[in-house]
Amino acid sequence: MVNLSTRYLGLDIKTPLIVSSSGLTGSVEKIQKLEELGVGAVVLKSLFEEQIRFEAGTQLKNGDYPEAYDYITGYSKMNSVEEYLKLIEQAKKSIKIPVIASLNCISSDEWVSFAKNIENAGADALELNIFFMASRKELSAEKIEDLYYDLVVKIKNVTRLPIAVKMGSQFTNLAAMVNNLYLRGASGVVLFNRFYEPDMDIENMQLTSSDVFSSPSDIRLSLRWVGILSDKIENIDIAASTGVHDGKAVIKQILAGAKAVQVCSVLYKKGEEHVKVMLGEIEAWMTGKGYNSIDEFRGKLSYRQIPDPSMYERSQFMKYFSSYH
Ligand SMILES: Cc1cc2nc3c(=O)[nH]c(=O)nc-3n(C[C@H](O)[C@H](O)[C@H](O)COP(=O)(O)O)c2cc1C
Repeated sequence: MVNLSTRYLGLDIKTPLIVSSSGLTGSVEKIQKLEELGVGAVVLKSLFEEQIRFEAGTQLKNGDYPEAYDYITGYSKMNSVEEYLKLIEQAKKSIKIPVIASLNCISSDEWVSFAKNIENAGADALELNIFFMASRKELSAEKIEDLYYDLVVKIKNVTRLPIAVKMGSQFTNLAAMVNNLYLRGASGVVLFNRFYEPDMDIENMQLTSSDVFSSPSDIRLSLRWVGILSDKIENIDIAASTGVHDGKAVIKQILAGAKAVQVCSVLYKKGEEHVKVMLGEIEAWMTGKGYNSIDEFRGKLSYRQIPDPSMYERSQFMKYFSSYH
């Protein structure tokens, strides 16, 4: 029997498969089933800033009653928070694997005090899903990056929980960004979040939404950056995310240097039982290669470990594939 255990955010996890923040981890029953199937940890669905605002907005649309509006806004905010804390508490009572809470945030003042409640409810770690839509031309890249840093610093000030930042890839210098998050106290990063993206219906002349689920080819962007950053910022734990649909993809991300790998879309598409198939694929590959533990092959194909690290940095097709006509 091979040993699939690994460490992520200072937590011992029995397999490298973590179920991403989503409806898949929205109830104690679902989480219990995921534990039985063999996942190493779960990230609870996010407590969304937008969700709280939306709830309040739909319950009272008439802006003529500001006091009532304030009351209901406060009430539904508390309820969401209460329900979330209850989910953490109940999950902790029912399962042994680590429970990582998730906050979707950008405005640090609003959210920081919640982090302490999350710690008190028993969560093992906190994932911050931070995203700022950088579409205002007056805002400098530095100011936007500072929003991310401030948030990590403020959250670190109120909780002792290990923090992971779940982020997108669109920064001018990802290595500097991740290093700065580490220097401000982040223990890990999740590379990368997948965002809602618009599409168009050209018959009905409407903006529509694109596919909510990833496909296996979406792994590539993450694979490149896991490979590069696992070597360049050695002390931060990387959880690979997006496009991981089978055991092979998990193996690739670990070879690139990931400490753990998050999965979501594939479980929506194929059912939670697919966890077992993926773990079986990893075990079979490890047995075939003679590896007994994850640590034995982690990072074997990372940036510094391969003969030509520039393979990770190649980006101009014309330069490398000019023989294609
Ligand atoms: C239906 C659905 C709900 C999601 N909800 C959340 C969420 O609440 N918080 C979050 O951080 N990410 C959320 N995500 C993003 C996933 O956690 C994950 O990062 C993304 O889907 C990429 O991983 P995948 O390719 O394995 O699906 C959601 C994704 C899906 C498909």
